[in-house]
Amino acid sequence: MSSAFDDFELKGHKLENRFVVAPMTRTSADKKGKPTELMGDYYERFAKGGWGVVITEGIYTDQQASQGYENQPGLTDAPQTDAWKEIVERVHKHDCVFIAQLMHAGAQMQHNEFTDEPIAPSAVKPKGEPLDLYGESDGWKEPKAMGETEFDAAMQGIIGAVNRAKEAGFDGIELHAANGYLLNEFLSDHFNQREDQWGGGMAKRLKFVEMVVKAAKSAVDDDFIVGIRVGQITVTDPDYQWPEGEDGMIRIVKGLKEAGVDYIHTTDTSVDRKPFKDGSNSTLAEVVQDFSDIPVIVNGGIDESNYEHIAAHYENGLLAIGKKALANPDLPHRLKKGETIEDLDFAMLQPIATLENEWKWRDEHDKHVK
Ligand SMILES: Cc1cc2nc3c(=O)[nH]c(=O)nc-3n(C[C@H](O)[C@H](O)[C@H](O)COP(=O)(O)O)c2cc1C
Repeated sequence: MSSAFDDFELKGHKLENRFVVAPMTRTSADKKGKPTELMGDYYERFAKGGWGVVITEGIYTDQQASQGYENQPGLTDAPQTDAWKEIVERVHKHDCVFIAQLMHAGAQMQHNEFTDEPIAPSAVKPKGEPLDLYGESDGWKEPKAMGETEFDAAMQGIIGAVNRAKEAGFDGIELHAANGYLLNEFLSDHFNQREDQWGGGMAKRLKFVEMVVKAAKSAVDDDFIVGIRVGQITVTDPDYQWPEGEDGMIRIVKGLKEAGVDYIHTTDTSVDRKPFKDGSNSTLAEVVQDFSDIPVIVNGGIDESNYEHIAAHYENGLLAIGKKALANPDLPHRLKKGETIEDLDFAMLQPIATLENEWKWRDEHDKHVK
């Protein structure tokens, strides 16, 4: 039976184990989207803590409409790329695979240095309110429905960022097509109400995402990992379900496999949830496992109580962990040694989720990781 501590090969990269730090936005870059030294401390701490893979926070991809948060890092110019290069070197010192998550905010734009106008498949606002966790905002703006210019800009930005991720030394990229951001909006019949070639049934809603995957794959050599994160839930709408139920996910998995993706990362409120509208008995990750031979990264509520069960269930899978990784940056080492596992104290991310606030909280609670 497979264990979370087994090694794993991902596109020719040898992983020490199957533990993955889930992507987490920390809004701690400088005003110009340049990563800081403190971000280097933050990412190196995970690498030292024994994780097989670290996925970065969502990184914006162009100097137009892709930025979603104030102090979000970018991969859009040489200063940002050079600063990431230093962080990549620090992470690689510890034999950890490092993947850049590329994110176009789409309609979920809370702050953008370059434009006031979000773009999205259709002129539809997200549900709910923007997230306080990532800084102040005046509420969602109605996005511009994308025309040819916006399609070109989004695509060029993403491919430019893929090339810069490669230049910075990352082992791969993850396209963010989950949680309500631009690529996920194409999959959603809430955000995507188009009646042209990009909207309609799942095959059409998936088309732009497939094109982006293919373009990313053809921009890089075969050993550079091109993964993708998908799911139904968004940051402000945990109840969203696409209308096609499990068939929608089967269509996505088949289309992404055909497009050449190297892994599919599924995210849900819980790894055990059966999230489909048609009442199917499968989880998102089970559909990847059952309908493809692509490695799956499973995410949502993995902790010390269930990680070996999940590892055994998804033989060709990796385990992405978010909140427990924030609380325990050295979680794999702690689990191996049988040490205490902390719960996340949300005070650590208050009033907003910056690294400065985390470091202050760790000073006050004497919880710095050695
Ligand atoms: C502070 C914070 C920031 C997050 N930022 C991102 C992000 O940038 N990209 C992303 O795909 N998910 C993001 N997420 C979602 C996590 O990757 C993960 O899906 C979620 O925390 C559920 O996993 P968990 O139960 O292990 O925490 C964020 C979560 C947290 C707590």
